Amino acid sequence: MTVSSQSGTVPVTIGVPRETFPGERRVAITPRRCEALAKLGTNVVFEHSAGLQAGFTDDQYVARGARPASRVELFQAAQVILQVRCLGANPEQGRADLPLFRPGQVLIGFGEPLTALKECSDLAAAGVSFFAMELVPRITRAQGMDALSSMATFAGYEAVVLAAAALPKIFPMLMTAGGTITPAKILVLGAGVAGLQAIATARRLGAVVWAYDVRQAAKEQVESVGAKFLNLDLDLDAGAAEEKSGYAKPMDEAFYRRQRERLAEALTGQDVVITTAAVPGRKAPLLITAEMAGRMIPGAVIVDLAADRGGNCELTRAGETIIHKGVTIIGPINLASRAAFHASQMYGSNLTAFLRLLIRDGALHLNRNDEIIRETLVTHANEIVHPQVSQLCSAAALTGQER
Ligand code: NAI
Repeated sequence: MTVSSQSGTVPVTIGVPRETFPGERRVAITPRRCEALAKLGTNVVFEHSAGLQAGFTDDQYVARGARPASRVELFQAAQVILQVRCLGANPEQGRADLPLFRPGQVLIGFGEPLTALKECSDLAAAGVSFFAMELVPRITRAQGMDALSSMATFAGYEAVVLAAAALPKIFPMLMTAGGTITPAKILVLGAGVAGLQAIATARRLGAVVWAYDVRQAAKEQVESVGAKFLNLDLDLDAGAAEEKSGYAKPMDEAFYRRQRERLAEALTGQDVVITTAAVPGRKAPLLITAEMAGRMIPGAVIVDLAADRGGNCELTRAGETIIHKGVTIIGPINLASRAAFHASQMYGSNLTAFLRLLIRDGALHLNRNDEIIRETLVTHANEIVHPQVSQLCSAAALTGQER
């Protein structure tokens, strides 16, 4: 089905509101991106100060052809709203925008569609066509739109920066007249995009890095960025822990227990452990118990990138840093926002690539025969149209009468 919402003569207006999630510094579109969007035949309206926290002034947007507006004016004028955190990823503050949406408006951004089911239902009820950037399929054609990977890159980098600041040691080996310092030992658990970037960053700082992932395909990638692969000898057949999509498969509790038993020994000598293990739509697997953390060397640091999905470490508290038996456990949330300038640049680039799919000849087309559009469209015409989200909503009794 193809839906055209414009005649092609009136340019599509794109709205870039200021992000309202506490501590969120990113902006969906940077000034430079406004020119690329103009080439698509669109106008850009941005909310006053939308880019300021990421390092982009209103004047820079205006110089690139965008028009400033109040939030209310922006929601009235725009056919397409671009956000970093849509309602599902900003469930408290984001609620204030619900009355501002118009039926038929397109919303694109992160929205945690597999878990924020109530928020998806609310967007459907508002008549919004919501595209979730988390659902961009990992196919070659969609690589330029893969915002999850872009943001994971920053998370991996920032995790190492946090660990380096908290560790009472430096990372590199030093040989000076004052003595020799041995390099820090770092273990990265989960070698997806964030894990690989963490490895590369820690290596650049001179640490000795080991890494482990449940997917056997990760071994080669780990080695290619300069770390040694930790083999836990869990007797897994090739591909047994990996979906066709490339994501890790959910495993049973017996597997995770065996994994923890084998990991316990490897943890004891580490200065830093960075955990990134995730299974899409699930609570993060538990890799480090309180007892395992307590047996690490005093002063050691755990940075748990899975903090907002329940944590890979039993002691992790999302958004907090705790100290247990001399070991620091950091549970950061929203790490990409710390690198807001560059993260906004990459996110804006991902969104622009996505918009090229939706806007042709200056008009908006929601061609649901296109795999990328079909797989990312969560709500449309007052319905939850994404099969997996719809099933989850049915299971949670959020569809039908409750909506
Ligand atoms: P993610 O953020 O979903 O998960 C992080 C990592 O945790 C994954 O590597 C996963 O295998 C690992 N993990 C899960 N359970 C674990 C456990 N119990 N123990 C240890 N590790 C565990 O992953 P991310 O970064 O999104 O990457 C997942 C896959 O997608 C990888 O195969 C990656 O190469 C692939 N990918 C493909 C892209 C493309 O084709 N366009 C783009 C980016 C990633």
